[in-house]
Order: sequence, then structure tokens, then C-alpha cells
Amino acid sequence: MKEELFPFIYYENGKLKIDGVDAEKLAKEFGTPLYVYSQSALEYWFREFDSAFSSVEHITCFAVKSNSNLSILKVLGNLGAGADTVSKGEIFRALNAGIDPKKIVFAGVGKRPDEIEYGLEKGILMFNVESESELYTINRVAERLGKVAPIAFRVNPEVDAKTHPYISTGLKTSKFGVTFDEAVELYRKAKELRNVEPIGIHFHIGSQITDVSAFGEATRKVAEIVRELHSIGIEIKYFDAGGGLGINYNPSEPPVPTKALADQLIPLVKKLGCTLVLEPGRRIAGNAGVLLTKVIYKKEREEKLFYIVDAGMNDLARPSLYKAYHHIVPAIKKEGELRKADVVGPICETGDVLAEDRELPLLREEEIIAILSAGAYGFTMASNYNSRPKPAEVIVKDGKAKVIRQRENLGDLISREVLF
Ligand code: LLP
Repeated sequence: MKEELFPFIYYENGKLKIDGVDAEKLAKEFGTPLYVYSQSALEYWFREFDSAFSSVEHITCFAVKSNSNLSILKVLGNLGAGADTVSKGEIFRALNAGIDPKKIVFAGVGKRPDEIEYGLEKGILMFNVESESELYTINRVAERLGKVAPIAFRVNPEVDAKTHPYISTGLKTSKFGVTFDEAVELYRKAKELRNVEPIGIHFHIGSQITDVSAFGEATRKVAEIVRELHSIGIEIKYFDAGGGLGINYNPSEPPVPTKALADQLIPLVKKLGCTLVLEPGRRIAGNAGVLLTKVIYKKEREEKLFYIVDAGMNDLARPSLYKAYHHIVPAIKKEGELRKADVVGPICETGDVLAEDRELPLLREEEIIAILSAGAYGFTMASNYNSRPKPAEVIVKDGKAKVIRQRENLGDLISREVLF
């Protein structure tokens, strides 16, 4: 009997499986905490996204910040993905994974000259410029290298994406991008410069957005700017609508189909005659990965039941950082009594909570549980806090598991330190 949680993540005869492999076996073989990704799920989510835009010229640039493991980037690159990057490090990763530089976009509010130089030398598709000062820095660096930098301005369309304030980026008060009102003037200034060439326009309104109407609103506003630019002879070839499409963190709810997003964007962008650029991260990787962790101790207080597990906020920061919900299931399915419990990590912080007051089946010490939807902003946000080596990452395809990042060891913790 099969019960699907997410594509390629399911119970079969009471055992949790990822792409055909037993979660419990993976935990035994590779240890916990362990990030496990399903290659088939990654491919599924990429295709689900990319095919929704097949009626227009487009590039799906995977947001590397959501999951930057080289093998993950390679899997997506093989399907034709480009990369949305925010640092020299992310460009380096994308190139190492074999992604075509002509499919790499580079955003970020604080690009340093050395990062700009790196992007120029590698010949990336475009720089998404976030301020006037940055425009001049790019021009200067490009001049020094004898190059012309292809640019887009990241325009803040001032729409409310109705998501968590920490991941909402399109409001007037946000630090990102240039304002709607100054955009055209900045393009004029850019056009005057010799070593930059405006070729695109960009916006990104936030993350984990499930009400797609905000994308439509932003697109309409930004399309107005494009029309104005075309009328003054500034040709915009790339319309970059950013990332942000949300996922279902609860397997019992359906995801918003990407087609709903595509319906908001395609008619408007088609009229402009631009190539669409998209920057999904979470949508591709989020539900393609889980974090396996072991219950170390069970602690009962009068009013509370705690499961202390071997993954902490250093391994998965989202619950403590945003109070984000991640569904939790045991590796061996259980029927029977549910009890409210807190699933907490071993870190010395009160906020090290992975799930609070969660109805869960009764768990035993040593039991393996899976924290779902951990494929995006999971490992990439992990740290060594409390001097904990980072977990291993494993990818599974058709019943076979491969390590794609080794578990860190004690030596790794101090390898860059100098004892004086
Ligand atoms: N493009 C730009 C310019 C971005 O800033 C981001 C995300 C993306 C694309 C990808 O967004 P996505 O499709 O993944 O929603 N750490 C937070 C999310 C921060 C997102 C930052 N920017 C979290 O764990 O929820």
C-alpha cells in the first residue's frame, strides 16, 4: 500500500521511502541528521515549473541560495536550468556544476567590485542592479576590463506579496531594488554610460507566495516601465519576474499549480516581446528534500512532552527563524494515539524548536523521524553553531543513494583556525 506525502516521498507498507529507498536504512547507513533529496522529485518539480512557460521564450534560473549543492545544480542544469545568484560564491558553484554562464543572473544589494569583475570575466547573462551607485561601480569595473556589462534594474514594484515580513521584498520600505518612480530615469542614465548596456528589467517581490495575483500586479506595473523604455529607444530583451512561488508545507494541502503563476505573467510578457526569466528556488527544491533526524531523548513534564532530536536550529534554521511550519512524520508509520509535543534540538537556545505543540504519534527514543519540505533553505542556511559539524547530504534516484556532501567532522570545525 502506497500513501504519497509529496511526489517521490511516500509511505509504502508503513515505511517512509524517498525515491524507493527506506528512510530508516538511509539514516542507518549515513547517520543523522541527514539531508536526503530525491532526484526524481527535483526533476519533477523543475519540469512542473518550466513546462508551464513553454509557450514563451524563457529561462528558468534556479535560485542557488535555496540549495547550492553542486550535484543538485548539475541535475537541474542538465534539464536546462540557469542560475539566479547573489554572490561570487554562487556564480562559482553554478559554473562548477556546468551551468551555462549565459543563463546566470546576478542580483544582490551589495555586490562588491571583485564580484562584479568575476561575473564580467565569466560572461554572465546580466547583472540585476539594485542602486544608482552600483550602476556606476559596474560601469567602472567594466571599463577597467574593457568590457560592456549587460544590466537590468531590479525595480521595486511596491506590491504586497502577503507573505512573512522577513521574506517580503517588494514593499516601498524594503532595502531591495530601485523605486518604481526612479526606474526610467536610471535607465536613461545607464544608456549614457559606455560600459553598461541595459538589456533587461527585474523584480522579485518575496518568497513563499501562494496568492499569485501579486505577481500579476507586479508584472502589470513593471510592464508599464518597459513600454515607456521602448518608447524612448531603450530595448528591453529580458523580463525577469524573480522567484517566490510558494509550496505546500503540509502534504495534505495541494500546491498552487505553476500554471496559475504562468497565467499571470505570460499574456503581459508576450505583448512586450521579451524573453521571460524566472528565478524559482523553493518551488523546485523545497519538497524534493527531507531532513532525517533521530529522537535522542524523550522528556515529560507535567504540561509538556519534549522529543529531543539530533538536528537543531543550526541544521534547519527555518522553524526558529520564521516560526515556519515543517511537517514531521516518523520513518515507520504509526497508528494510534496522538499527543501534543515539542520537537526540539540539542542547541543551547530556547528558540531551538523544530515543531511546537505538534500532534504527533508517540515516539520512542532512537526512532527516526523526517522533517519534510527541507530541500530549500535547509542546508544552505545551516551553520556550525555550538560547534556542530554540518550534516551530510544524500541524493536518491531509483532506489540508489549517493552522498553529495560528506558529513563534516571535528577536524573540519577547526581547519581554518590558527592556534597562536
Ligand atoms: N530571486 C531573488 C532575487 C531572491 O531574492 C530570491 C529569494 C529568489 C529569487 C528565490 O525565491 P524563492 O523562489 O525560493 O521563493 N530564507 C527564507 C527565504 C529567503 C528568500 C530570499 N530570496 C526562507 O527560508 O523562507
